[in-house]
Amino acid sequence: MKRVGAWVVLIVAAAAATVFSSSEPLRATHGMVVSQEAIASKVGVDVLKAGGTAIDAAVATAFALAVVYPTAGNIGGGGFIVFRPATGDPVAYDFREKAPAAATPTMFLRDGKYDAVRHHGSHLAVGVPGTVAGLHLAWKAHGKLPWTRLVEPAIALARGGFPLTESFASSLARVLPSMKAYPASVAQYSKNGVPYEPGEVLAQPDLARTLGRIAAQGPAGFYEGETARLIEQEMLGNGGLITRADLKAYVPERRTPLRGTYRDHEIISMPPVSSGGTALIQMLNVLEGFDLAANGWGSAENTHLTVEAMRRAYADRARHLGDPAFNPSMPIARLISKEYAASLRATIRPDRASVSSPTSFEWPPESDQTTHLSVVDAGRNAVAMTFTLEAGYGSKIVVPGAGFLLNNEMGDFNAGPGLTDATGLIGTEPNLAAPGKRMLSSMTPTIVARNGELLMVTGAEGGRTIISTVLHTILNVVDHGMNAQEAVDAARFYHQWLPDTVNHERHGLSPDTLAILKARGHALKAIERQGSAEVIVVEARSGKLAGGDDRRSAGGGAAGY
Ligand code: DON
Repeated sequence: MKRVGAWVVLIVAAAAATVFSSSEPLRATHGMVVSQEAIASKVGVDVLKAGGTAIDAAVATAFALAVVYPTAGNIGGGGFIVFRPATGDPVAYDFREKAPAAATPTMFLRDGKYDAVRHHGSHLAVGVPGTVAGLHLAWKAHGKLPWTRLVEPAIALARGGFPLTESFASSLARVLPSMKAYPASVAQYSKNGVPYEPGEVLAQPDLARTLGRIAAQGPAGFYEGETARLIEQEMLGNGGLITRADLKAYVPERRTPLRGTYRDHEIISMPPVSSGGTALIQMLNVLEGFDLAANGWGSAENTHLTVEAMRRAYADRARHLGDPAFNPSMPIARLISKEYAASLRATIRPDRASVSSPTSFEWPPESDQTTHLSVVDAGRNAVAMTFTLEAGYGSKIVVPGAGFLLNNEMGDFNAGPGLTDATGLIGTEPNLAAPGKRMLSSMTPTIVARNGELLMVTGAEGGRTIISTVLHTILNVVDHGMNAQEAVDAARFYHQWLPDTVNHERHGLSPDTLAILKARGHALKAIERQGSAEVIVVEARSGKLAGGDDRRSAGGGAAGY
């Protein structure tokens, strides 16, 4: 009888654990890393345990992601870091790729017509990578452990290999056909063209050697010498533009983060060349004028208002934003001002969707792969870092002999002069390709503070949807009182001005809500999933760190101690 009782207790406990595990975050006292890959997060937490700073952990996690999550983790791409020290001023690092010296605004046209392959799927689509230089710059300023200590776990994973998870094996099997034109890519990610099975070990010896050069020489191990020679050889032999001179000339930027407020919370986010911080703060400013908490999560009212805020911010993004070095008079201060938000709010009709027009940016107009990681250390210093190759596995081109994938980030430049249309192609001036220019990004690494204390680290993958996903995570925590896991789990939607459609996760909004939105004139489209967000929240009552790990991707990437 006693035994039966014990079993009942066990079964009830297991059921409770199952129920709660879908909404309870991972909690930790000292430090935490949330990334999209469990092995990489563990590498980061080991660095924290060894006395490393949040930046040390972010750097080590990022190098590990280049090995175990090559769909987006990279040394051949670029990204951004927003760092908020527990004391002192926050700082941002911009290691976005740059256009090579031979780039032109019309380089994606063939016979005067837009050519998507030139833009997204060729050697021309590769930008000068920034990741290695950016990680090194951030480490020099805020790191404590030796640089080699941070690269070594990635070298070991590349040299010795690691067993493939089910989701990584199927991701590689899916991408393999698009790598066929690149023998070094097929060699690296398959068994002579035969996909790996889950559980088999993937070793990447060429990548281990490249990482070894980076460990020993710092950025010179990538931007000069053997690695640079191998990149140039691959580029110039295949119609690409990047030369050793482009690589040597690459410099990351230290920038001042954008700052805004939302209902007494401080928002710290990425300035241009990301559009993320600007659009995020603009949307939050617009939404601050509405009582989202009283309306309730998922209500038609909130969805309508949020969509209208998104529509306006994405139109301004297309109209105004690009590389600040090439667009010295971008009206950022105005775009993130409360006054401008009030004027936008006044153009939102409560009962009717606005209409997006490719030929007018005035209001009211009458008419997948990146990866984010969040880190908090024992001193409550926080890092939000998003980096990318652009598409999943970037250009799909592995540099022969160097073992890493090149980005296709040039696809984030606008298509060509004047090419804005209703399908979402954008041809506005600020973000046309030019020599040495950085392409506009949507990556939105963001930190939220309250009363001077860290509250939340957030960021996401998902191209232009990133800014909307980050917005949702903040609204879910601030307005709807969700914990970190609930804020990540909750269904999402986005609107990006053009196409003029609300994309909402299937099973996210009720049929009643959708019917009301439709009656207001919104075009609706169900999608499978919107991005992947990695969130850490400092919980008010316990002071503990709570990690929200996104199960839309493989999940399992929250680790703490
Ligand atoms: O920088 C950007 O905004 C894009 N290149 C990010 C790409 C991305 O998120 C693809 N993801 N799923």
